[in-house]
Amino acid sequence: RERIEMNTKGHMVYAGMDTVDLANQYGTPLFVYDVERIRKNARAFVEGFKALNVKAQVAYASKAFSSVAMLQVAKQEGLSLDVVSEGELFTAIQAGFPMDKVHMHGNNKARHELEMAIKHKIGCIVVDNFHEIELLQELLMEYKQDIDVLLRVTPGIEAHTHDYILTGNEDSKFGFDLTKQAREAYELLKLNPHVHLKGLHCHIGSQIFETDGFLMAIKRLYETLNEWHVRDGFNAEVLNLGGGFGIKYTDEDEPLELSSYVKALVEQVQEEIDHYQLLYPEIWIEPGRAIVGDAAITLYTVGSKKEIPNVRNYVAIDGGMTDNIRPALYQAKYDACVANKITEAPTYQASVAGKCCESGDMLMWDVLLPEVKAGDILAVFSTGAYGYSMSSHYNRFPKAAVVFVEHQQAKLVVKRESYEDLVKNDLSYE
Ligand code: LLP
Repeated sequence: RERIEMNTKGHMVYAGMDTVDLANQYGTPLFVYDVERIRKNARAFVEGFKALNVKAQVAYASKAFSSVAMLQVAKQEGLSLDVVSEGELFTAIQAGFPMDKVHMHGNNKARHELEMAIKHKIGCIVVDNFHEIELLQELLMEYKQDIDVLLRVTPGIEAHTHDYILTGNEDSKFGFDLTKQAREAYELLKLNPHVHLKGLHCHIGSQIFETDGFLMAIKRLYETLNEWHVRDGFNAEVLNLGGGFGIKYTDEDEPLELSSYVKALVEQVQEEIDHYQLLYPEIWIEPGRAIVGDAAITLYTVGSKKEIPNVRNYVAIDGGMTDNIRPALYQAKYDACVANKITEAPTYQASVAGKCCESGDMLMWDVLLPEVKAGDILAVFSTGAYGYSMSSHYNRFPKAAVVFVEHQQAKLVVKRESYEDLVKNDLSYE
């Protein structure tokens, strides 16, 4: 892990701020985002394409972390936006995000969601299934409006970290299989004069460290695109390769430089274009985790401890699966330090437990920390993606607060929920 910065008080410094002060000022659990880091990640992608002179769109997958402030930063960086629901689209509207740069995903887009997308004239709908094609047919007739679409296909590649699996017949709830359904969908879309099919989309997985899976996917997409070109001259104007670029959570993780992913994708597309003699498409990608994942930490306050001799020491913090369900859901690993004890040697082996009424509510198993006690501040690294966005109200814990830091200034961007917030939709039965 990168060296932890520290000030003269022996406190951990993050994005130029004393983390203990932040915890005192805003309370815990607290997500602290380093906005400069978000911008740096976004620019690595955008400039990666620019350096290669390739027309591209880098769409931030807002499922990783969506809030008005976050989408404003994405807008400032010139990113496009991937939304998956009316709620994510609504947040984009609230953030003043340019609608022509919004792409809508979803494997079961409801009529009202598509209607909202059409009304707001979003840039592109990524069509996922036959039901959606029918809905679009009806709605676009009704609104007498045109829209750009991509077809989401499953190229039969599943990638996770270092592994990728090739499957002939993709078993997935998303998209059309490349062998048969994609062609059928393509023919159906051609019948709709309001639909402009710009190209194909695929997303092969998440937290991927190697480029092989992406390159294989590009090859498969081009086999299909070439068939369509030979049959009726179709030329894809856009190739959307999804997200999935891996980040470093712990020292075990060895992601590539973000620009290396870009270079690999561009080179493979170039190879296919040359091979089949097709027109060069715009390349779109949809990184979520790689934009925000390593750009935040979560601060917690340590409470109780339970020491079971010769078995394990449990240290409990004031959050857990309600603000970070990833360890419980995916056995995800994190690194942490005690923010007010940076100078102390990590000699105490402990497992960090959340406070939900559930044994699986653990953040970390058997990690080395300094001797901790109640009131200490625990900082968990790389919590910027799928932490706040997957948080829940289990046990009726209010959702955490989110602070953005830039130029050594902290700004509250999502308020901590109150108990009133928790019951605001509850109606009395007396
Ligand atoms: N595009 C599509 C169509 C997706 O389904 C996803 C993620 C992304 C882009 C962004 O992927 P990223 O660059 O963030 O890997 N909750 C899980 C991750 C689920 C990802 C779902 N789709 C986690 O916490 O690891």
